[in-house]
Amino acid sequence: KKKVTTHSLLKLKQKGEKISMLTAYDYSMAKIIDGAGIDIILVGDSASNVMAGNETTLPITLDHMIYHASSVVKAVETALVVVDIPFGSYQGDSHKALDSAIRIMKETGGHAVKMEGGAEIKNSIERILSAGVPVMGHLGLMPQSIYKYGTYAVRAKQEEEANKLIEDAKLLEELGCFAMVLEKIPAELAKRVAEAVSIPVIGIGAGQDVDGQVLVMHDMLGINNDFAPRFLRKYANLHEIITDAVGSYIEDVKGRDFPNEKECY
Ligand code: KIV
Ligand code: NA
Repeated sequence: KKKVTTHSLLKLKQKGEKISMLTAYDYSMAKIIDGAGIDIILVGDSASNVMAGNETTLPITLDHMIYHASSVVKAVETALVVVDIPFGSYQGDSHKALDSAIRIMKETGGHAVKMEGGAEIKNSIERILSAGVPVMGHLGLMPQSIYKYGTYAVRAKQEEEANKLIEDAKLLEELGCFAMVLEKIPAELAKRVAEAVSIPVIGIGAGQDVDGQVLVMHDMLGINNDFAPRFLRKYANLHEIITDAVGSYIEDVKGRDFPNEKECY
């Protein structure tokens, strides 16, 4: 498989071939999903939940994101690696936003950054793009704004929010973003957005009529069983597989079955 680039992703949209994207936060898992042929690896700030056990994505820091991303990049041969800029590292101050993006690019070797929001963060997006750093947008449910919503429910069901989302999507394209994520919005609205812009639109809980799909790897592998929204398809039950393996290990240790002669020096 050839290296995935912002350019090759645009080609996929033009050809009508769907784009595959998953999150990863560490070297070992990134090596597996890159080897499996994924198009985009997102070092998501969902690391805050999945890796660090926080309730939201807000606490994760730029230093934490850089640690995760640099681990992922070392494992990747073909995927495009996109790194979330965390809460507090880009909103409000475009100079600070550029500093954050530059730290990510220099210290991790990642290929692009992702930021949540439209018109509100226009200046930050523009400044980062002007430095030659590719930006992926993120609209719809934006977890860094969870305290504004007060709920993880589907976004943009009302016309006003839907119209703003469409305007924001057009703005992201106009500014020069290479792609965007749409999270947890009605499929019909996501379809309209994917048709309205020429850049790839990657959905999570946004239906089939977008240009690609993204899931949090730990969710789709069934590692944490607590999280089961409608949009999540589980491709494995690693929770069960790991629990069984660990159970067998404990049994073997307690029963003096492990290690045997062949496993000794
Ligand atoms: O952080 C993340 O995992 C994300 C995806 C859900 C798109 O932003
Ligand atoms: Na994220």
